[in-house]
Amino acid sequence: MVSDAIRLDGKVAVITGGAGGIGAATARLMAARGARVAIADIAIDAARALADGLPGAIAVPLDLEDEASIQTMVATVVDHHGRLDILHNNAALLGPDIARQDGDIEHMGTALWDRTYAVNVRGTMIACRAALPHLRASRGNIVNTVSNLALQGHLIQAAYSASKAAIIQMTRSIATSHGALGVRCNAVAPGMTLTPALREAFPPALRQAVEAETLRDRLGEPEDIAEVVAFLASDAARNVTGQLLVADGGCASHVPGIAQFRAFFGEHP
Ligand SMILES: NC(=O)c1ccc[n+]([C@@H]2O[C@H](COP(=O)([O-])OP(=O)(O)OC[C@H]3O[C@@H](n4cnc5c(N)ncnc54)[C@H](O)[C@@H]3O)[C@@H](O)[C@H]2O)c1
Repeated sequence: MVSDAIRLDGKVAVITGGAGGIGAATARLMAARGARVAIADIAIDAARALADGLPGAIAVPLDLEDEASIQTMVATVVDHHGRLDILHNNAALLGPDIARQDGDIEHMGTALWDRTYAVNVRGTMIACRAALPHLRASRGNIVNTVSNLALQGHLIQAAYSASKAAIIQMTRSIATSHGALGVRCNAVAPGMTLTPALREAFPPALRQAVEAETLRDRLGEPEDIAEVVAFLASDAARNVTGQLLVADGGCASHVPGIAQFRAFFGEHP
């Protein structure tokens, strides 16, 4: 029998940062699979524009730096839809200005470190805490977006990568504390994913360096990550909890420097 468990019919899903790159692709995909999505974002005009085009979707203002805003966001969704089945913690503190300040630890400003943790770690924790009573009621689940940078050292983004590693451990803690209560919690780690913002801001030479390490013939697109999130959020993943699914085109799965090895051996060593 062909399984249709990847469908999300009848589910209510919140996507934080749902107005932007990967979050917007995930909102579109989840809506196409039958979910009623709540697009929660600090960029509320963009969230409304996206929600207007998706059946059953709503836009909800959210500032992850503001505890009250997070609690109101969850309450608004539950008031509107009467339930919550999926919390997708996708939003993060990003952007060229932030990236410029987030280098190595010796040169790290404390304010940047604190803000990164406020949005990424504290904001995710408060969203999970606010959603968990509703997810217990629906036997729902949480999908946290982290990053391949949480798994490997790099010259850049020391605060961001540490904050994403903290979310991996939060994922395991929630899976452990709430598994017997019917709530699953998983994480997805995208590698470099070609969102509109990243296409605009990321230096082409560095993009080529990442492309050289991928095991596919191209870098990931937002829709590639959306598919993984939709799977983890669906009943098809009912036996999967406390897990990290790395969706980076294989970049982190091999020793570094395969571009040079390819050049030495040719395409077929
Ligand atoms: N794009 C990549 O290459 C990549 C790689 C690894 C991990 N990720 C992760 O994927 C997720 C999505 O990234 P993206 O590239 O689509 O980002 P993006 O910048 O395109 O979108 C992020 C969204 O989050 C919203 N947001 C930012 N701060 C917020 C706040 N304080 N409160 C509420 N909303 C806020 C923004 O308005 C935006 O809509 C992030 O968790 C990111 O760390 C992305």
